[in-house]
Amino acid sequence: MTNAHDYAKTHKEQFLEQLKDWVHIPSISTDPTRKGDVQRAAEWLAADMRRVGIENVEVLPTAGHPVVYGDWLNAGADKPTVLVYGHYDVQPADMEDGWDSNPFEPVERDGKIYARGSSDDKGQAFIHIKAAESLLTNGGKFPVNVKFLIEGEEEIGSEHLVTFVTANRDRLKSDICVISDGAILSIDQPAIVYALRGLVYMELEVHGPSQDLHSGGFGGTVHNPAQALAEIITALHNPDGSVSVPGFYDDVVPLSDEERAELRKTDWAVSDWQAATGASQPWGEAAYTLRERIGARPTLEINGFASGFYGTGAKTVLPAKALAKISCRLVANQNPEKIYQLVRDYVAKITPPTIRSEVRMIHRGDPALVELHIPAMQAAISAYEKGWGKRPVFMREGGSIPIVADFRRELGVPVILMGFGLHTDGAHGPNEHFTIEMFYKGIDTAIHFYEDVAQIKS
Ligand code: BES
Ligand code: ZN
Repeated sequence: MTNAHDYAKTHKEQFLEQLKDWVHIPSISTDPTRKGDVQRAAEWLAADMRRVGIENVEVLPTAGHPVVYGDWLNAGADKPTVLVYGHYDVQPADMEDGWDSNPFEPVERDGKIYARGSSDDKGQAFIHIKAAESLLTNGGKFPVNVKFLIEGEEEIGSEHLVTFVTANRDRLKSDICVISDGAILSIDQPAIVYALRGLVYMELEVHGPSQDLHSGGFGGTVHNPAQALAEIITALHNPDGSVSVPGFYDDVVPLSDEERAELRKTDWAVSDWQAATGASQPWGEAAYTLRERIGARPTLEINGFASGFYGTGAKTVLPAKALAKISCRLVANQNPEKIYQLVRDYVAKITPPTIRSEVRMIHRGDPALVELHIPAMQAAISAYEKGWGKRPVFMREGGSIPIVADFRRELGVPVILMGFGLHTDGAHGPNEHFTIEMFYKGIDTAIHFYEDVAQIKS
């Protein structure tokens, strides 16, 4: 065992305390009132990066939330340059959503740390900062050249990061990109993700009368916008669970028999799926397994629904408008812009003349498929083998990391997705947590990855 691994072991409690300090900052990127906290989380990270010996650390402004950049480029020109991407912004979290403790007051229970962002993605991004600390503190040397890019807008579509990447091609030039912002199969089965879904996020607004009306005075004569919205939404799926928008599946590349056989190895057992979701039984396209539905099929989800009165008690109102948040997850070869247009046109077509509807796009991200047959992938495989004592499996994921496709396109850099979370971490939901063992194993595995990737001849 090398010094860096020992250092990580002897400092693990300290690393965990530092992570708790960071997740304490409510860096909710979608909430304009949290802008100061988002900035504070960026500054906190930059200070820690400087302290551990990462060089040229800067908090760089964008038209949205800032990007934290830092590098260490002293490994030598014969060594590869690794770009590490992660995000310090988090999803919203409120006690009313069902949290057992304050989402921004981290607590330890049963070997887990509970806090918003503990897994997605502060905990996983911090793994790389602590791997860097372990390597740089012991002998002051990183085995490869490394550039860190930790952003503050991943959870809202990374819109301004794309502009930043395009404008900073030289600064970000690298041979390989590693991202820890996902999940492995189970605590004792590591996995490397090779497919992420894309996304187009929309808002559908329905307007009826010019203002809220007395439901007794006008009910039965006015097409209620809440009902009309429900009718439109219902028409977006077929009874078999497939999406009914014409052309929706046109660009989907069918899975080969080989890939289906491979994916079966990472399928959900229904009992595990039930335990993870709390839902009684699966729903969706019956011709596809659960893993295929998640990783290889596009979907249309209603993310939120609002209209009329939903306070305590009763109010006999006929609402003037209704709103739904709708997003489509997309698979490789589908185009978010095209899907937005198809949904918009179909909604326009099925909107009855009694109401007015509008579909607006909020954000979008391309799907991504990563290359499996590159030397750095071997380093990732052997790093998991050493860190976990088990060879990783390859799987497709349903979530999105919009910048992955942009990195490939703008920087020409292949991406390796080395997740250290679990699907049961409660990401985006209440009681998000990070298993402390995963944090420690993650740091050890990341150090192995940097050591192994340094062996690749350029
Ligand atoms: N870490 C997730 C993405 C993810 C989830 C990868 C599960 C692998 C498995 C990421 O932070 C995330 O939640 N992304 C958003 C992006 C969106 C808002 C554009 C997502 O997928 O909803
Ligand atoms: Zn997320």
